[in-house]
Amino acid sequence: MPAKKKPAAKKPAAKKAPAKKPAAKKPATKKVVAKKAPAKKAPAKKPVAKKAPAKKPADKQPEGEIKIKISKKTPQPVRGMKDIVPKEERYWLAARNKAQEIAQSYGFQYMETPVLEDAALFQRTIGKGTDIVEKEMYVFEDRDGRKLALRPELTASAARAYITNGMLNLPQPVKTWYVGQMFRHDRPQAGRYRQFFQFGCETLGERHPAVDAELIVMGYNYYRDLGIDTQVMINSIGNVDDRQRYIVELTGYLRSKRSYLSEESKARLTKNPLRILDSKDPQDISVVEEAPQIIDWLSEDSKSYFMKVLEYLDELEVPYMLSPTLVRGLDYYTDTVFEYVETATVEEGGTGLALGGGGRYDKLVEQLGGPETPGCGFGLGIDRVVLVLKKQAERDELKLEEKGPTIFFAQLGEQARRRAMALIEGLRREGIMVRHNLAKSALKVQLEMANKYNVTHTVIIGQKEVQDGTVIIRDMDSGNQEIVDQRKIANEIRRILK
Ligand code: HAM
Repeated sequence: MPAKKKPAAKKPAAKKAPAKKPAAKKPATKKVVAKKAPAKKAPAKKPVAKKAPAKKPADKQPEGEIKIKISKKTPQPVRGMKDIVPKEERYWLAARNKAQEIAQSYGFQYMETPVLEDAALFQRTIGKGTDIVEKEMYVFEDRDGRKLALRPELTASAARAYITNGMLNLPQPVKTWYVGQMFRHDRPQAGRYRQFFQFGCETLGERHPAVDAELIVMGYNYYRDLGIDTQVMINSIGNVDDRQRYIVELTGYLRSKRSYLSEESKARLTKNPLRILDSKDPQDISVVEEAPQIIDWLSEDSKSYFMKVLEYLDELEVPYMLSPTLVRGLDYYTDTVFEYVETATVEEGGTGLALGGGGRYDKLVEQLGGPETPGCGFGLGIDRVVLVLKKQAERDELKLEEKGPTIFFAQLGEQARRRAMALIEGLRREGIMVRHNLAKSALKVQLEMANKYNVTHTVIIGQKEVQDGTVIIRDMDSGNQEIVDQRKIANEIRRILK
């Protein structure tokens, strides 16, 4: 917690100081900023402006504290969907900014596709018997009677966009990345929402184990750079023929153990037996342990492809764990499939929620009417990353770089307010982030706000400073103030902040 700071130690020279200075409110949320030294006595220099009023600051409600009773008439967010609020900003921006940084550093280019697509796009590719299509997709008819779906994922959309935008004519492979909302009518719980964000990368137009390895290491580095240790779980599900032969074998085995299976898995036996492999039901787990493994049913080509991917991962020193039951819940995959699981969860013995997953999909573009085009990619759940970042911040007081403003701008009087607006614009153009509240006039209230924002310095301008062409820069820890020429504020702030 940052130390409490006091607001304006002294008032403008011409006016009398109030008897007591109110202590700044503690911020409601844990701030990830360095502790500050206790406030020292303020020096002599004051802005020449009106006296700060003694009355309580109007904006004293701490962030996150709901004082107003929410009326029953106020609509709630849709179940399983949530707002991302300012106090979570640093986690979301860390996750999104890192996505962009990683993607661009590996030569991926940004793309966006519509949130709505023809429902058939997902039904055909993700697969009719899958949970996503069967139970979770938001499907509706629009006013023209078209059957549309809110996208449950973006790989099918990316493959569609690859064809419809003629990307097959570009130099191959085409490497794209995206961040966006997906929608699944899943059972809401921690880390499982009905609207969630994914950071995804797709490499289309190349079949080579180095492509798979590059994607796997990218995802791994994404988490590592954010301070999250992950375990890569990896498997190969072979080509379409391998899988068909394996499904026949697996179904035969599971039928022989039918009476031991959970009700859900019994139902899946005909529709999607592969999914029984990653059932979390204890009844199923013991049956699955003895089940034939897909790796033994791979063709020579798929087997040697998989071995190469693993060799590259060894070379790149990416730790991975072979997971023979990992099949993933989407039908379009061929050969390599992988997931990222938080290491802490694995070490605690749980399987946990996957932070991300991906794999190769060499038939997807063809399935959508395009030419033979191999592909591979991943989708990483940003909401889950944010959950882990928050958990870590609470546990270790981990300091994520807070890219918040470091300067507050306070003004006293109408003339000063106008001048302040122009000066703030100038500072923004110089790349200096400034907080302010131009609606407030009392210096005391503004300095209290500055303390809440935890800024290190406040620029103060009053009537006298407007006339002199100066401002006062106040060090919020020591209370020291210095007079600076208005034309030199940006340079002075940069010098101070260094
Ligand atoms: P997926 O495994 O269905 O793969 O989703 C990827 C990640 O999205 C999951 O590992 C998880 O972190 C996150 N996620 C999924 N469902 C939810 C949910 N209900 N709430 C919060 N987070 C969730 C795909 O979507 C593939 N398109 C990935 C891919 C890209 N494969 C190849 N390219």
